[in-house]
Amino acid sequence: MLITLEGLDGSGKTTVWEVLREEYPEFVFTREPTDTWYGDAVNRSMGDDDADPVAELFLFTADHAAHLADTVRPALEAGNIVVSDRYSDSRYAYQAVSIDDAVPRPLEYIRGVHQPWTRPPDATIYLDVDPETGAARSGATNKFEQAAYLSQVQQNYERLMKAEPERFVKVDATQSPEEVLDSVIDVFGRLLEEHDDFAPDE
Ligand code: TYD
Repeated sequence: MLITLEGLDGSGKTTVWEVLREEYPEFVFTREPTDTWYGDAVNRSMGDDDADPVAELFLFTADHAAHLADTVRPALEAGNIVVSDRYSDSRYAYQAVSIDDAVPRPLEYIRGVHQPWTRPPDATIYLDVDPETGAARSGATNKFEQAAYLSQVQQNYERLMKAEPERFVKVDATQSPEEVLDSVIDVFGRLLEEHDDFAPDE
C-alpha cells in the first residue's frame, strides 16, 4: 500500500511524516523531491527565480520517475507499506500553476504526462491549511511559498480532491501541532485497518 502526504508549504506535513516514521519503523518512508542528483537538480531549479517553468516541471517529473523505479516500486513489490512526503499530486497542484501561461489545461496536461507510467497512491492525507497561514509558517523563502501562489495551488488540490474523494482524507492543519498529529495518526490507523481487511494475507 502506498500512502502519500500532501499539503501547502507550511502545512506541517514534514513534521507529521517524521513522527509517523518514528511510530511505524517497519514501513518505508520516502519523499519528493528526493535526495538524489535528480532532487538536487530540482532544488537548483527551485532556487532560481528565472528557471523555465516547463523545464522545471520535467525536472520534478524526472525525479518522480527515478523515485518510482529505485524506491517506490521495489518497496511495494517487496510487500512494504510506503509513505511518501509529497508525490504526484504536488506536481498536479504546484506545476499546474507555474506552467499556466505556457500550456492550456495545465492540470490535465501534467496528469496526462504521468498517467501511463506512474503508480497512483492508494490513499492521500491532505493537510489542509489556508494559503496565508501556509505562507506565514513557511517563511515564504522560495518562489512557491507566497500566499498568492499557494492560493492557486490550494484550488488545484481542491479540484483533485473533488475528482477522487475516495482517495483523499483531509485533516485540518490549522489545529495545534499535537492535534494535527493525533488526527493523522487516527487516519493512519484507520487506513491500515482497511488495508488489512482487504489484504489479510499480505
Ligand atoms: P518540500 O521539501 O516538501 O517542502 P516543505 O517541507 O516545505 O513542504 O517541497 C519543497 C517545495 O517543492 C515545496 O515548495 C513544494 C515544491 N514541489 C513542487 O512544486 N512540485 C513537486 O512535484 C514537489 C514534489 C514539490
